[in-house]
Amino acid sequence: MCGIVGYIGPKDPVEVLVEGLRRLEYRGYDSAGVAVVDDEGAIAIRRAPGKLADLEKVIRAQPLEGRYGLGHTRWATHGRPSEENAHPHVDGSGRVVVIHNGIIENYLELKRALEKKGHRFVTQTDTEIVAHLIEEQLKNGSGDDFPTAFRKVLPQLRGIYALVALSADAPETLVAARLGPPLVVGIGEDEYFVASDIPAILNHTKDVVFMEDNEIVVLRPDGPTFMDADGNVVVREPQRVPWDPITAEKGGYKHFMLKEIHEQPRAVRDTLIGRVSLESSEILLDEANLTDEHLKAVERVCIVACGTSWHAALVGKFMLERLARIPVEVDYASEFRYRDPLIDEKLLPVFISQSGETADTLAALRYAKTGCPVTLGICNVQGSMLTREATGTIYTHAGPEIGVASTKAFTSQLTALALLALKMGQARGTLPEEESREMIRALYHIPAQMEQYLDDDSEIQALAKVHQQYTDFLYLGRGVNYPIALEGALKLKEISYIHAEGYPAGEMKHGPIALIDEELPVVALAPRDRVFEKMLANIEEVKARSGIVIAVTDAESEDLTEKADAVVIIPRTLDLLAPLLLALPLQLLAYYIALLRGCDVDQPRNLAKSVTVE
Ligand code: G6P
Repeated sequence: MCGIVGYIGPKDPVEVLVEGLRRLEYRGYDSAGVAVVDDEGAIAIRRAPGKLADLEKVIRAQPLEGRYGLGHTRWATHGRPSEENAHPHVDGSGRVVVIHNGIIENYLELKRALEKKGHRFVTQTDTEIVAHLIEEQLKNGSGDDFPTAFRKVLPQLRGIYALVALSADAPETLVAARLGPPLVVGIGEDEYFVASDIPAILNHTKDVVFMEDNEIVVLRPDGPTFMDADGNVVVREPQRVPWDPITAEKGGYKHFMLKEIHEQPRAVRDTLIGRVSLESSEILLDEANLTDEHLKAVERVCIVACGTSWHAALVGKFMLERLARIPVEVDYASEFRYRDPLIDEKLLPVFISQSGETADTLAALRYAKTGCPVTLGICNVQGSMLTREATGTIYTHAGPEIGVASTKAFTSQLTALALLALKMGQARGTLPEEESREMIRALYHIPAQMEQYLDDDSEIQALAKVHQQYTDFLYLGRGVNYPIALEGALKLKEISYIHAEGYPAGEMKHGPIALIDEELPVVALAPRDRVFEKMLANIEEVKARSGIVIAVTDAESEDLTEKADAVVIIPRTLDLLAPLLLALPLQLLAYYIALLRGCDVDQPRNLAKSVTVE
């Protein structure tokens, strides 16, 4: 989950690289570095532990110049975050430079073999080995040129990688390869880019090629040459990405997270648009490649994901079981393949991932493919691994999500799951037409209701002020809203570092109730659904033990006002869609508490936006 950028073209490479890294900082931000090469073939490198701003300080103090180069922002796997372990890394001669995202699993073995040949290493990273392997290949590889030496090193690596390298002896040449983590090649006017993700290059070009696994690219001033693992040239046509660079900016908000919270009405609307016919109630999910015959024939669904996407999966279970009357299991991707799951052609496995590159989710998908002919991804990133490996995808149209804590991607995932549940319910004949219509009408109304709610967040700001000093929070919900309690707790802990737990409210009495005292705020999700009375009883239980209750509901209620310390009211929708609206106050509460505590909201410590290691 490090960020990679490489540039070759007429602009100042340092500027292009640092700007690109800024847009990739969400991928890792414990150290950063750049390397550029000048006309004489001299390599200049600057690296710094900490954020990109720290690297920029180093560059200001010791400016560097060159014709082309590469840059990296790191999320440490091997070796602590330090200047020495920051990328780029060089070989023993100082003439080969490498940046890497991923993990080389056999690096110790390779390191020992290289040490026997006299190589000396200065970092604790696995990446440094790659530079030395290239050096070794150049020395002993019967006159291989740099791109060939680079290509020949790759089969020795076990693990996953996106690699970009340059050599002082190969003027104006960048080489890159991927196996696992994403790499995208940008094709501008007389300038070429390689990067981990599109936002890094969007300011320069929208024409891109998503590299395939085991593919290599050589970038030179006359353009990119793609080749397969054996060095055979492969023709790749660029595609145009629809994202606007402005979409990836903060747009006047203090943080990406706040901007993304406010983008939810648009994101949900875009996820719905073109997928639902208000007239016929037909659900159109063309890219999902699902036939009604298949949807009728499947007997089980399993939804697999990580983090916030896993919470969306839990909501999806309620939606699918309710509307399509099909049993649904939900798995953490990191657990799925290790529990020897029952997979066969009667199972529809669904994988949810904002980024489409989460290593655990991809590994689970690959496992499922061994037994299931049809696999479905729900994904926000066009061209990502998940979308290419699953047999079909429902794209969420949330747009680029930069804040590490997922917000708009989450509610867009819920929207996509609602569409899938409707589609399956219709295909399987379990959903009466009137109910279908009612759901669709309610779904269409959600963006406007979100706008209405987000219009004024002063109430949540005030609540954040009153509750920011507490060290533990409990979130409670029931039924389809129980996953929202989990998500609310996750949001708070991710960005404010406050300990928070989410629980199904009925489970409280089996443990968490022991924690309740006057120092424990409890966020109780209590819309006026069929378990409202039960939630009221749980709130009583909290109050009886002097807990602090923040209730979130969807209509004025005397009972709640009397019992709770604070009541937040969201717009009313159908019970099954309440999660889409309940998520909003919880996101805002986490945001404002983190802000008051001076936390780095968009880049919380130890986290990364996309986790490409297992
Ligand atoms: C990381 C992020 C989370 C995200 C999870 C899954 O942990 O910090 O916000 O929910 O990965 O990511 P995915 O891209 O697969 O949805």
